[in-house]
Amino acid sequence: MKVLVLNGPNLGRLGVREPDVYGHQDLHQLAEQCARWASELGLDVEVRQSDDEAEVIHWIHEAVDHHHPVILNPAAFTHYSYGLADAAAQLHTAKLPLIEVHISNPASREAFRRHSVISPVATSTITGLGFFGYKLALEAVSELQQ
Ligand code: DQA
Repeated sequence: MKVLVLNGPNLGRLGVREPDVYGHQDLHQLAEQCARWASELGLDVEVRQSDDEAEVIHWIHEAVDHHHPVILNPAAFTHYSYGLADAAAQLHTAKLPLIEVHISNPASREAFRRHSVISPVATSTITGLGFFGYKLALEAVSELQQ
């Protein structure tokens, strides 16, 4: 089964962007780790990143149409993108897992990060565990498929 791991804006800057918050590893390393974790679970994974809201929305549509579970770090879109939330709701309707992941713990940061418009339609939300959160999300997808 193919799982889409979708990353929103500025996550292409991992490694150089606020390393005290997001760590020193880059997106390429995240993709490598996700591929390894997925293969251990017998899953196929595709890790993508975009700064473009429309592109991420189209990827969610693709997941709905092709029945792919989604692991989504919506990054800043988390806090205001009703367009992305409406796309994510279609995964919910299709009973496809949507695991929302945040590298940091947004609840412990600025006030604007405390609200997620995605969480109400997510199967689960994992925060504050760095890249390990993606591993837990892959395990959750695997578990939910049993
Ligand atoms: C983030 C948290 C968001 O508030 C922020 O806008 C990001 C990354 C995280 O992974 O911790 O870009 O989603």
